[in-house]
Amino acid sequence: MEKLIIQGPSVLTGSVSVGGFKNAAVAVLPATIIQAGVYNLENIPDITDIDCIQAIFNKKGMEWSNVSSNTIRIDTRSLDTYDFTDDEMSSIRASIYFAGALLSRFGHAIVALPGGCNFGERPIDLHIKGFEALGATVRQEYGKLFVDAPNGLKGASIYLDTVSVGATVNIMLAAVKAEGSTTIENAAKEPHIVDLANFLNNMGAKIRGAGTDVIKITGVKELKGHTAYTIVQDMIEAGTFMIAAAATKGNVFVRNVIPKHMESLTAKLEEMGVGVEAGDDFVHIFPKDWPLDKAVIKTMPYPGFPTDLHPQMATLLTQAQGDSTIKETVWLTRFQYANELNRMGARIDVNCPVASIHGGQPLTGAPVSANDLRAGAALVIAGLCATGTTAVSGVHYIDRGYENLVDKFRQLGADIERVED
Ligand code: UD1
Repeated sequence: MEKLIIQGPSVLTGSVSVGGFKNAAVAVLPATIIQAGVYNLENIPDITDIDCIQAIFNKKGMEWSNVSSNTIRIDTRSLDTYDFTDDEMSSIRASIYFAGALLSRFGHAIVALPGGCNFGERPIDLHIKGFEALGATVRQEYGKLFVDAPNGLKGASIYLDTVSVGATVNIMLAAVKAEGSTTIENAAKEPHIVDLANFLNNMGAKIRGAGTDVIKITGVKELKGHTAYTIVQDMIEAGTFMIAAAATKGNVFVRNVIPKHMESLTAKLEEMGVGVEAGDDFVHIFPKDWPLDKAVIKTMPYPGFPTDLHPQMATLLTQAQGDSTIKETVWLTRFQYANELNRMGARIDVNCPVASIHGGQPLTGAPVSANDLRAGAALVIAGLCATGTTAVSGVHYIDRGYENLVDKFRQLGADIERVED
């Protein structure tokens, strides 16, 4: 067991570069099995969710080589089974994407039900609804999902009752080679949906409308099996550094960013009095008005305020003057971070789905525990703001989605190290 030990407070300064987007990479990698071929992928983040997908590829006999840091070459030609029920499948959420991809390649898929971060129920009914609309039969038994389309998949019009990233991805994966055209209405618009569509289109798919709420997919018989692609930058990693800079009254250039992806966060930071300057591929965070002002936040699907920046934002709001609220509309019970922040002196009341953050309370270092990936990031930021020593356990959650988090914060002047417990 490892811990992060942080001596605070810190004022972050300097420059940090953001890596490839976890949520895009975990969709693009399963997409490569749709068409037997060899794929060169750049900007793949070095995180444990990707290690888990690599383990699944290896177990299925598919070659995966690390060409250089963050660049891989994978060969999906030898895949000859649609049974993906290995243990690794249950350790990440995105393993469910293998269902759509296998269905597309073989007309059948058996996958273990997915795992992932623990912040309440994470249903897959819309994924199933999508597969069924395309003509597949789906049954769930013994912790596995059995999906079959022995007569092939047929394009359909599918309306998602709730905007779901996962269901949008899975339907896109399943539909690219379906007969006829598929329309996904009320589709998710997140940058990783656009990234997956770009990748699939590079493979020869015909997908239009990704990034809007109507996606149209015209099925094609074959895709190209040899494709090179660079994964889009991680907007959640970028947002985490922007918030950390703001919370520590820091002066930080967050580089390798698509500023457009950051607009909902940028707007809130500016409203609070944080200095924000956006360039072509960077966002500069600097102190402007201090103390920071309170804020009212509601998480929403993209382009709304991302739920995956909710816990980090809660930490920032502990440093603002006055009472702020965060209303969670995506993962209604995502508040496990609040007790941990309160151990550090924060005053956060949770009345699901709303957290009321009574700002202006000085934080003091304490032993705290990350219970999910983004809560872990929130606790690290709190440790940077707090006086004294903070010990964050549950580091394996943070490793799931942040590449070299410790090194990147050290580069910005933080006193943080990773130690064996
Ligand atoms: C993805 C992200 C996750 C992020 C979330 C919301 C990945 C790998 N993970 O998760 O980091 O927090 O989007 O931005 O990209 N829902 C249903 N039925 C379904 C599927 C979802 O009701 O079949 C509901 C969920 O309960 C939730 C909402 O839809 O309230 C959004 O979930 P969804 O967008 O599917 O999240 P994930 O794809 O799991």
